[in-house]
Amino acid sequence: MLKVVVLVSGGGTNLQAIIDGVKGGVIRNTKIVGVISNNKNAYALERARENHIPAKCISPKDYESRDVFNEKLLEAVNEYEPDLIVLAGFLVVIPPEMIAAYRNRMINIHPSLIPAFCGKGYYGLKVHEAALARGVKVVGATVHFVDEGTDTGPIILQKAVEVEQGDTPEMLQRRVMEQAEWKILPEAIHLIANGKVHVENGHAFIENL
Ligand code: GRF
Repeated sequence: MLKVVVLVSGGGTNLQAIIDGVKGGVIRNTKIVGVISNNKNAYALERARENHIPAKCISPKDYESRDVFNEKLLEAVNEYEPDLIVLAGFLVVIPPEMIAAYRNRMINIHPSLIPAFCGKGYYGLKVHEAALARGVKVVGATVHFVDEGTDTGPIILQKAVEVEQGDTPEMLQRRVMEQAEWKILPEAIHLIANGKVHVENGHAFIENL
């Protein structure tokens, strides 16, 4: 049974997709053992509580320095003894110690087809604003392992989504969530939980694809 901790900052629709995936059998051999947010008002925490999943807030505002926050965040994660950490819209920089401790056991969902529209400053709606400004016809989402860079770790799954005439950033964000994020994040967790994902020479491979 893969024990998963999900880190969140906002509405938690990706967390909800994981919860529904476990409940509905799309994600097998998996248990969400905890949800942690840096934002006490994140609706994602409410979604966890509604589903009887331990939920807590670890906020940088509550600690005298970023170093102390980083320590407390890693402590809080380690308490659950997770096999996998999932960043589902988590907007805080992950401490290097945590990346090292969970190398190839921490994944992130990014709302673009990496390497497009990713890296520092590209998160949430900003990603879709940049895609529309560039005039691309295809966007999408990426699930990748987290390394020391920003959106630079080994790519596990990607899914493309069409841009439609007249799209606003909000319309495009919603379509990417519905058609891509909420599908490939649960799928990636299911594959990892069932031993189908391996990393070699910095690339992620999926068995029997
Ligand atoms: C989404 O835009 C996702 O692509 C990005 O952060 C946002 C999280 O949304 N990673 P939610 O909190 O899962 O609804």
